[in-house]
Amino acid sequence: MGDLFRQYWMPALHAEELPENDCAPVRVKILSERLIAFRDSQGRYGLMDEFCAHRGVSLWFGRNEESGLRCAYHGWKYDVTGQCVEVPSEPETGNFCANVKLRAYPLVKIGDILWTYMGAPQTRPPLPEFEFVQVPAEQTYTSKRWQECNWLQALEGGIDSSHVTFLHSGQLNSDPLFKGSKGNQYNAGDLKPFFEVADTDGGLFVGARRNAEEGKYYWRITPWVMPSFTMVPPRGDHPVHGHIWVPIDDENCWVYTFDYHPARALTGPERQAMMDGYGVHSENIPGTYRPLANKDNDYLMDRDAQRRNEHFSGIKGIAMQDASLQESMGPIVDRTKERLVATDSGIIKARQKLRKAAIALAEEGATPPGVDPAHHRVRSVAIVLPKEDSFMESTADAAKVKPGVPQTSV
Ligand code: FES
Ligand SMILES: [Fe+2]
Repeated sequence: MGDLFRQYWMPALHAEELPENDCAPVRVKILSERLIAFRDSQGRYGLMDEFCAHRGVSLWFGRNEESGLRCAYHGWKYDVTGQCVEVPSEPETGNFCANVKLRAYPLVKIGDILWTYMGAPQTRPPLPEFEFVQVPAEQTYTSKRWQECNWLQALEGGIDSSHVTFLHSGQLNSDPLFKGSKGNQYNAGDLKPFFEVADTDGGLFVGARRNAEEGKYYWRITPWVMPSFTMVPPRGDHPVHGHIWVPIDDENCWVYTFDYHPARALTGPERQAMMDGYGVHSENIPGTYRPLANKDNDYLMDRDAQRRNEHFSGIKGIAMQDASLQESMGPIVDRTKERLVATDSGIIKARQKLRKAAIALAEEGATPPGVDPAHHRVRSVAIVLPKEDSFMESTADAAKVKPGVPQTSV
């Protein structure tokens, strides 16, 4: 699965982590590799092995100066490509320095994310084209948090529409980024959604169908683009949100959470609510990406709020309602003990697709779904349709990105 991830561009940092030229370098761990990221004097981004090629000192202690990162121990200096450009501790001896290079990966800013590609250079795909990083800056917002479990069990929460009616029931009508939509009533009115899952070029469309007015169904369509991009179906004219999960190692992941509106700027109150941890964002410990409510404080569980039905699980906020339960399964849930049911059909299909793609890559070198940027240009959809209509046919157009055109939402 690590090899599969190396076929894709992935978020490596939030752009705010490297805010200006020659700022402090940042430690990054993804796919179990310990890396250092920095932004040089010319604004170029670098992502390379954290440890100096001389004797293994962490370059986090280094000096970011004059277009390179200089090791604090003996002053060896590296540029953004990992190339050693100075060995001041040694006498000038031919081209010793030219032969010293740290493993390095490209690092590119698109939207509020610094993306990397950690695979072989010859299979490097074109840059990502998800709509949330392509709309103007005033229409989009991205946050980041650390989640203490395997990326896949976290992602599975993103394609499991059936938990919304239970776990998030208290928030649908109170959260500033959710409340007031007609869709909330359908959500609350039907606890037993019927799932229909359709293959797409890049992954899946997971359709969850609930009863609406006479002769009609309310459909929520969640796209999953491989390996780990999901988008929650919209509610009314609220901004649309979703996540990308990036493995730190087998037992931890980064969650990049976005909210954007395809056709208008986010309002001041919307942006503030996102920064305050409403919607699907989290409130983090200042200066870190660790949520304030976390494993060590039992996620600030409030039994009274649970009893009052304010929060179904007693945990505040949609993001931490999800993360607390997903982390409670253990760092990697034992799937041999699960009892999967009909509402898990999106999850079952996603696992099958991931497995198939990993095997096809290993055995035939097949390019997996979701690598092609054309696969990124999808949207989630919330729609009411006549009972006899097929969701795939009826939403084919609404699920495509059309720049400047609002999302299809109820
Ligand atoms: S360990 Fe980095 S220069 Fe010696
Ligand atoms: Fe959730």
